[in-house]
Amino acid sequence: MERTLILVKPDGVQRNLMGEIIGRFERRGLKLIGMKFMQMTVELAEQHYAVHKERPFFNDLVAYITSGPIVAMVWEGNDAINAARATIGATKPVDASPGTIRGDFGMEIGRNLVHGSDSPENGVKEASLFFSEDELVSWNRDLDPWIVE
Ligand code: RTP
Ligand code: MG
Repeated sequence: MERTLILVKPDGVQRNLMGEIIGRFERRGLKLIGMKFMQMTVELAEQHYAVHKERPFFNDLVAYITSGPIVAMVWEGNDAINAARATIGATKPVDASPGTIRGDFGMEIGRNLVHGSDSPENGVKEASLFFSEDELVSWNRDLDPWIVE
């Protein structure tokens, strides 16, 4: 069972797309185990995007992600990483297929609406950066046999 950290970035919140974006993961069949509405501190943003520290866009990225509230979520499932990234679409919204979140709602890489972890290891690591283990909920979803064989 994989975990992925999903963020509705500040543009998604400001554009009233929270419900739309959350609904896509919900309808896909991923299982929500944690959620909070929060504003990221610069410190948390620098930790979360540490791999991009040397990139020229790093300061703009930190300013963007801390510019307003976000929705942070942990979703669980077999292949949760790939399923979530396919639902999100390519990093550059103009390259993202219609039907994906970025392909339906985005225009620019610096306003790409949503984050999803890129590997199972990073899913676990990023989830623990945003949530303590007691903030994550273990629950039985009655619909599971209709989603998971
Ligand atoms: P994310 O981490 O946010 O889910 O996005 P991703 O995996 O598709 O893309 P990644 O390479 O991890 O980049 C992280 C975020 O940095 C911003 N970015 N800006 N201006 C640029 O060239 C540039 N490149 C990346 C985007 O917000 C991207 O989502
Ligand atoms: Mg990434």
